[in-house]
Amino acid sequence: MTSAYTGRFITFEGIDGAGKSTQIAATVAWARAHDHEVVQSREPGGTPLGEKLRELLLHESMHLETEALLMFAARREHLAQLIEPALARGAWVISDRFTDASYAYQAGGRGLSLEKFSALEGWVHPDLQPDLTFLFDLAPDIAARRLAAGRDGTDRFEREQTDFFERVRAAYLLRARESAGRIVVLDANRAPEQIQADVLKTLEERFA
Ligand code: TYD
Repeated sequence: MTSAYTGRFITFEGIDGAGKSTQIAATVAWARAHDHEVVQSREPGGTPLGEKLRELLLHESMHLETEALLMFAARREHLAQLIEPALARGAWVISDRFTDASYAYQAGGRGLSLEKFSALEGWVHPDLQPDLTFLFDLAPDIAARRLAAGRDGTDRFEREQTDFFERVRAAYLLRARESAGRIVVLDANRAPEQIQADVLKTLEERFA
């Protein structure tokens, strides 16, 4: 938990196409309506350097471990430049993805060992975890159909096959079981209004 900080840190996770964006907007609106300063961000990215790393991560082929290390390099910068200063001044940081995505995509999807990620997490943010994480859970074939319907271009991750996303999904759900208090799993195979009702209910219960 972010006990050292007065702000709140909320993250959104799930496989590509699970429908996070609408609910991120609803969460930002809810926090602003409750008079909180809100900083909306994303990973990889969130800082000028992080956005350059994002460009490389999404479009350049690279060694699997290079990919994992660059995710954490971008995250280190994100924490130093944006997340920690915002939380310290009492703002809410709402991020589209954080470290759970590395466990899901680089460990689960790519097959790197979980131990490497505990080591990187312990190095980059030993004392900080999101206060709350929404995990949008959805079958990969449904997510793929949504992506195909709504997108112009695709990146390296979106071009992966169903079995990759099955592994990502399983790794996310494992992480959710291990961090049950922090990660709230949402059935993303529902209408956006139904999902939003769950999101807002959780925010009310935890933070109102
Ligand atoms: P995403 O956040 O889904 O943005 P968009 O909706 O614009 O595609 O894309 C980021 C991609 O990066 C996504 O496919 C997941 C991947 N990713 C990782 O593989 N590991 C990570 O640690 C993070 C933060 C993201």
